[in-house]
Amino acid sequence: MSLKEKIMIKMGLITPFRYKADDVVIARNVSLQGRENMYIGAKTYIGENNVIYAGKAPLTIGRYVMTGPNVTIITGDHRIDLLGEYMRNVTNEMKLENNDQPVVIEDDVWIGAGAIILKGVTIGRGSVISAGAVVRKDVPPYTIFYSHENTRPRFTLQQIEEHERLLQEKYPDDFAG
Ligand SMILES: CC(C)(COP(=O)(O)OP(=O)(O)OC[C@H]1O[C@@H](n2cnc3c(N)ncnc32)[C@H](O)[C@@H]1OP(=O)(O)O)[C@@H](O)C(=O)NCCC(=O)NCCS
Repeated sequence: MSLKEKIMIKMGLITPFRYKADDVVIARNVSLQGRENMYIGAKTYIGENNVIYAGKAPLTIGRYVMTGPNVTIITGDHRIDLLGEYMRNVTNEMKLENNDQPVVIEDDVWIGAGAIILKGVTIGRGSVISAGAVVRKDVPPYTIFYSHENTRPRFTLQQIEEHERLLQEKYPDDFAG
């Protein structure tokens, strides 16, 4: 999301969830809950059967993001520490503050099939999340994430500089403002 878009959302000039206007593609059978708390950037592709819930904490998905089929992104948990109550009966009203935490998926991230992204996570620009991965903590930019125990750089620092330079050259509008 560009700075201009963020400011416009804050000022109430545009609504956060603008997938049609922004050329976002939502594939078949996608479940989006909490749209009022969901920000999806231009040119993003949300894959088939994705389950995407933004509860009390917002979900921000950047531009040129691509999610494979069956990806799950959820910004909240239920309380699991209550004695004498069935999990089924633990309601959203009983939540603690940290049960909901924002998720940010920066521009140009590819999330592989079946990956699960949990609350409080930021996935850095240009990263790749491998199929079936569970992401519980932040992922730095330009990382290939297999698991928290196994990540690799997608590019060298020199390659990142070159990649960014070429992107700016090719898509100058995306870097304006
Ligand atoms: C991550 C990915 C892009 C490939 O990355 P890569 O580094 O080229 O993969 P490689 O095949 O060279 O494997 C590198 C290592 O990661 C491991 N690995 C690859 N994919 C993995 C996965 N999904 N989960 C866990 N480990 C994985 C490999 O076993 C290998 O481990 P090793 O070095 O110990 O042998 C690919 O594995 C993947 O998950 N693609 C997603 C496909 C998809 O979801 N398509 C949907 C269409 S949008």
